[in-house]
Amino acid sequence: MSKADGSALTGVSETALLTLLVRATEARRPDSVIDDPMAIKLVDSIDFDFGKFGFTRRQDMALRALTFDQYTRGYLVDHPSATVVALAEGLQTSFYRLDAAGVGDQFRWLTVDLPPIIELRDRLLPHSDRVAMIAQSALDFSWMDRVDPTDGVFITTEGLLMYLQPEEALGLIAECAKRFPGGQMMFDLPPVFFAWWIRGGSRVSLRYRVPPMPFVLSPSDIANLVNTVPGIRAVHDLPMVPGRGKLINGLMWTLQRVPLLDPLRPVVTLLEFG
Ligand SMILES: C[S@@+](CC[C@H](N)C(=O)[O-])C[C@H]1O[C@@H](n2cnc3c(N)ncnc32)[C@H](O)[C@@H]1O
Repeated sequence: MSKADGSALTGVSETALLTLLVRATEARRPDSVIDDPMAIKLVDSIDFDFGKFGFTRRQDMALRALTFDQYTRGYLVDHPSATVVALAEGLQTSFYRLDAAGVGDQFRWLTVDLPPIIELRDRLLPHSDRVAMIAQSALDFSWMDRVDPTDGVFITTEGLLMYLQPEEALGLIAECAKRFPGGQMMFDLPPVFFAWWIRGGSRVSLRYRVPPMPFVLSPSDIANLVNTVPGIRAVHDLPMVPGRGKLINGLMWTLQRVPLLDPLRPVVTLLEFG
């Protein structure tokens, strides 16, 4: 089969190729922290100048993905027939990792992303009657009408909110809280300290600049969402899963526990609605 053309992905959608490449590069290592043969296969199936992203031998995206897996799985253990809504799923392979991890075969999956990403997923990933896809913005809330909340809803926004305007990101959270009582939502954001640098788009290599990230929140602002957004019952500030090497684990442990260092750490948050 000929390779799929990745050049249709531009702007924020192009960043899905970067995060995929980082996970696949990690997965290729013999001592990899992530088991993700599907990510490797995806990279090998896409015709794209991946070299433009520069240095991609790093663990962070794999650790982020595994942290999302851990809490998605936790919800599915309690709600085995729930629907997972993966907003801005990009070229994540989370469904296949969770499916292989023995969480049962009752949960359903809904991918919401922009049309060029959905076209690639449709072409390159195995189809399943438990997986549905919607090619539209997550900010067009009509996707919510396609979710059956009866058996539970777990919403992931891995690598999305930072690319939205603050009112869009907070509006999305508020609408999810209103529409899915009993559900949960997970998101990540970059460190507040780097807000000035990433706001205008950050150069990660000579040939690639990551698009602007206008939305960040400090851990204390995030904790306060329970008071400011109706429908949020609890907010959990989550540690990342451990990585490879004492240095990175020591660093992550320290950042997570020393409040003075809060501005320097990325955040991963779980919201409980109800
Ligand atoms: C950094 S990538 C993250 C992809 C994937 N979640 C991951 O972690 O690899 C950002 C993703 O957001 C998607 N995206 C950007 N704006 C969106 C919107 N308004 N609605 C839905 N998806 C959006 C892009 O198409 C892209 O897939």
